[in-house]
Amino acid sequence: MVTGERPVVVLIGPPGSGKTTIGQALAGALDVAFHDTDAAIEADQGCSISDIFVLDGEPTFRALERAEVARAVEAHAGVVALGGGAPMDAETQEVLDGQVVVFLDVGIADAAKRVGFDASRPLLAINPRAAWTKLMNERRPTYERLATHRVDTAGREVDDVVAEIVSLL
Ligand code: S3P
Repeated sequence: MVTGERPVVVLIGPPGSGKTTIGQALAGALDVAFHDTDAAIEADQGCSISDIFVLDGEPTFRALERAEVARAVEAHAGVVALGGGAPMDAETQEVLDGQVVVFLDVGIADAAKRVGFDASRPLLAINPRAAWTKLMNERRPTYERLATHRVDTAGREVDDVVAEIVSLL
């Protein structure tokens, strides 16, 4: 771990990789704050991500997300969990450059078990298994390129994953 100050640890990965659950536990283990960019956008906008997609469109959500990620990473010493699509944005990729970025890797079976693919994820609303697989195939190279560490979360307990991440910092 970087000495002197607490680093930001950014968690990336697809829906169902455990970014929120693992992020909260990791923040507890490191004794730092936890920040979830999706939750922050919902709190700021006073409505759900799914409503933002439906009422304002995905480009509006992505612009809010880009601004929120930059704000969180630049201002926040702690664990920051990004929405699954956030790392695909070019400006966000610049913001992540030089940060500790952990890619939480997972397969469809565990992802489906964790999130249930309910209506809260608009990009997975229709044919969720096929949609998830397509997104993951498109995004994996970017997740891998941006990550300073890749951690496989499939079939693992939260504490076990957290212990591995702590050992990598
Ligand atoms: C998205 C993932 C969601 C949320 C939004 C878009 C995506 O976050 O940001 O629905 O593009 O994969 P999770 O990764 O936390 O599900």
